[in-house]
Amino acid sequence: MLLSLHWFWLVLVLYLTNPGEVEAQFPRPCTTPEARNNRTCCPLFNGSICGTSSGRGVCVKLPQMHPSRPVDHWVGWHRYFFNSACMCLGNYDGFDCGQCLPGFRGPQCEDPHVVERKEITDMTDSERETFLSSLHQAKQSHSSRYMILSSNDTTVEGNYEFHNSTVYDVYVWMHDYAAKTIPVQDIHSAHQGPAFVFWHRLFLLFIEREIRELTGNQDFYIPYWDWTRTDHCNICTNEYLGAVDRYGRIESASLFSNWMITCLFHRDASIICDPSNENDPKYLIRNPGRDTSYKTLPTTKDVEDTLAIPDYDTPPYDKTSNNSFRNTLEGYKSPDDPRHSKTSMHKLAHHYLLGTMTRKFTAANDPLSLVLHSFLDKIFEDWFKEHPNATYPDSDEVTPAQRAKAFMAPFFPLRTNDYFWGKPIQDLGYSYREHSLPHSGAGSRPARQGEETAQSPL
Ligand SMILES: *[C@@H]1O[C@H](CO)[C@@H](O)[C@H](O)[C@H]1NC(C)=O
Ligand SMILES: *[C@@H]1O[C@H](CO)[C@@H](O)[C@H](O)[C@H]1NC(C)=O
Ligand SMILES: *[C@@H]1O[C@H](CO)[C@@H](O)[C@H](O)[C@H]1NC(C)=O
Ligand SMILES: *[C@@H]1O[C@H](CO)[C@@H](O)[C@H](O)[C@H]1NC(C)=O
Ligand SMILES: *[C@@H]1O[C@H](CO)[C@@H](O)[C@H](O)[C@H]1NC(C)=O
Ligand SMILES: *[C@@H]1O[C@H](CO)[C@@H](O)[C@H](O)[C@H]1NC(C)=O
Repeated sequence: MLLSLHWFWLVLVLYLTNPGEVEAQFPRPCTTPEARNNRTCCPLFNGSICGTSSGRGVCVKLPQMHPSRPVDHWVGWHRYFFNSACMCLGNYDGFDCGQCLPGFRGPQCEDPHVVERKEITDMTDSERETFLSSLHQAKQSHSSRYMILSSNDTTVEGNYEFHNSTVYDVYVWMHDYAAKTIPVQDIHSAHQGPAFVFWHRLFLLFIEREIRELTGNQDFYIPYWDWTRTDHCNICTNEYLGAVDRYGRIESASLFSNWMITCLFHRDASIICDPSNENDPKYLIRNPGRDTSYKTLPTTKDVEDTLAIPDYDTPPYDKTSNNSFRNTLEGYKSPDDPRHSKTSMHKLAHHYLLGTMTRKFTAANDPLSLVLHSFLDKIFEDWFKEHPNATYPDSDEVTPAQRAKAFMAPFFPLRTNDYFWGKPIQDLGYSYREHSLPHSGAGSRPARQGEETAQSPL
């Protein structure tokens, strides 16, 4: 068999990295009793494991964990369940190597494919309707590829269950899982550290690809919501992501009014996505601007000030980091004086929306989280273009799950936190189209009724 350098590199990384940081999600074929007894997550593709006979990938042993069996799934998830998993070659990707890396398509995954992400109010009517109805389809469609895991107490050996889920709710679950913290230590895998930007980048690419697979529309993309062009939630209308009544419920005229939320408010460090809590709200709740502490969205100046911070991240690489682009973008510091703690940027936008979006564990239930994070990803891209020599922090001060060579939880196949560093987004299959309005046009304006363009993905 031809072993590419890519494969050697990945295996090397696996063996050099503290295996306790490797985690993975739950592909349906790996949740069968047989796969679990075998401790193997190497599904068949095109008749051979990991598509080996089509040259797509190989089943490799994952490194031994230390300690060998953690009490919490969150630590070293893959070794908690599996000893082996697929490692894909070349441009192949996916838990069975049956997919292409983002940015490629075609039978051999050799054809570059780039889709432009527009600002959501710049989409034409038909583009927007396709976007919204695709989300709705994802919310209602059974995921044939993944299952979600729940546990009412992860400290008890074997105390977990797999559940069927919809395509959208797999996405919700992944955010809930990554937002979970390890008891005692305030450790996060997706927030409050240098991986914040990259974890959410992978997260958007994941749901984008799942929705492409579901709808067959290879040009489906997550638009961004530029909240600097408005002084209110201009997309909280039934034309967009739903208007709300005075209780914060989405109006019945919106597709999103009956979206049931999953992985709810009730939290305990040893619980994963308790689907049975009756006390939680059932539907999306949004009260934009109604929290008196967070009455406004971040401004154009906030974005400009954030972009002007020269260092990607600074010690101690958490939510206390001063003069850190990442920490200010994440919203723990004041953009105009990033030594001072203040709820800003990402956090402020979440808090401004008061409701489902306010809590990390529930935020992904609201489809607004997609367009909000797409904008944050764009801001990072704008910063990155100006700082081509920046590097991912290489320091023991970084929390273990977010170190450069640790793997992002709960993505499968494995991706290191620094995987995206230095990769132009065009190589990942997307780019951002600038907003059609100049910044001076900020303020309330009606949603644009755009004309079809040559770029229309429909
Ligand atoms: C489990 O292991 C047996 C014996 O090694 C093998 O024949 C079978 O294909 C494996 N099944 C899975 C799902 O990995
Ligand atoms: C499946 O395998 C056959 C040969 O076994 C090969 O000709 C074909 O291209 C493969 N299909 C894919 C999608 O890899
Ligand atoms: C957790 O669920 C199991 C059944 O799956 C049940 O036996 C156990 O009592 C539950 N524990 C708690 C703390 O609710
Ligand atoms: C989960 O979905 C699979 C099909 O993908 C189906 O065979 C199975 O019965 C479902 N399980 C439950 C508990 O609904
Ligand atoms: C950040 O700056 C503030 C104000 O100068 C200071 O009190 C605080 O200790 C600094 N924090 C870190 C982590 O350096
Ligand atoms: C980046 O590094 C290169 C080579 O060290 C240097 O020539 C270039 O000026 C640097 N660019 C910036 C923006 O600092």
